[in-house]
Amino acid sequence: MKKVLLSGIQPSGDLHIGNYFGAMKQFVDMQNEYDAYISIVNYHAMTTIQTGRELRENTLKSVIDHLAVGLDPEKATLFVQSDLEGLNELTWIFNTLITAPYLERAHAYKDKAEKGIEPSMGLFDYPVLMAADILIMNADVVPVGEDQRQHVEMTREIARKFNNKYGDVFKEPKEMIMKEVAVVPGIDGEKMSKSYGNTISLFATDTEIRGQVAKIVTDSTPVGESINPQNDNVFALHKLFSGKEIDELRQRYEKGEIGHKESKDILAENIIKYLTPFRKTREELMNDKDYVYGVLKEGAKRANGKAREIIQKVREVTGIKYV
Ligand code: TYM
Repeated sequence: MKKVLLSGIQPSGDLHIGNYFGAMKQFVDMQNEYDAYISIVNYHAMTTIQTGRELRENTLKSVIDHLAVGLDPEKATLFVQSDLEGLNELTWIFNTLITAPYLERAHAYKDKAEKGIEPSMGLFDYPVLMAADILIMNADVVPVGEDQRQHVEMTREIARKFNNKYGDVFKEPKEMIMKEVAVVPGIDGEKMSKSYGNTISLFATDTEIRGQVAKIVTDSTPVGESINPQNDNVFALHKLFSGKEIDELRQRYEKGEIGHKESKDILAENIIKYLTPFRKTREELMNDKDYVYGVLKEGAKRANGKAREIIQKVREVTGIKYV
């Protein structure tokens, strides 16, 4: 029996290379080995996107983006969160077990509240809905970037609380965080994030990619002097895109044989080379929406099939099912 993998991505606009290396690539790499479920979490995205048209369009785009980077719907189950029956019910049940002071500890929530973003109940409850995403599939592993570690810890806490009260229903899932890509840096060296405006989009045009790479923040080492690759934002991205060339680049950095401009030019061309095949597939899929709707219909069927057993068990043990 294959282990169950579950992850989610918000359809919150243009996905970026942080999302790709931190999460999406893992889904593709692991789709043969695991019984994999990937949820496009449109309820979560409602905490930031509150225009119907935008949410609808972004949802479909995110689905297409996952297919374009190589997620195979024959192997992995790709579905939209709102197609899963029982998910909000499970969230409510978990809400009755977890305390508000516990949720107040969530870093993601605290960061947003500190930035002055109005903390809606949805934002506050975000980790509980995420726990429901994971536990409704009885997932073993959850591939994510470092920023989601605490949310998966909270998921385990919720599973424990439930099991203590009602008997063993849920497994305690484990986060799967790849060290080298746990935090993909943005063009300013901070974590790449849409909300920081420091992203390189996964589906940008060549010109946009060259423009974004040109803006990567570097120090002012003059050409001819050595640059420490450890402290260089351009080199950090070379590690993701520059394959076999990386050792040669490291040597040139250390020997002072490469300047920031040349390094950026090489990086931009390597990113373009890496992403071009994804873009082609994406264009084809954009013109074949019927295929995409078909994938989602099948995905919803498989995801619901998997979740049903857990939901029925939860209804029984909690007494919600009263006859
Ligand atoms: P979201 O939509 O913000 O991000 C999706 C995934 O991309 C990863 N990621 C990164 N990884 C490395 N470096 C970066 N700079 C970077 N930026 C983003 C995130 O860690 C994440 O894995 N709460 C989740 C969505 C979610 C979910 C779930 C995840 C909802 N339900 C169930 C797993 C399981 C989120 O907001 O991700």
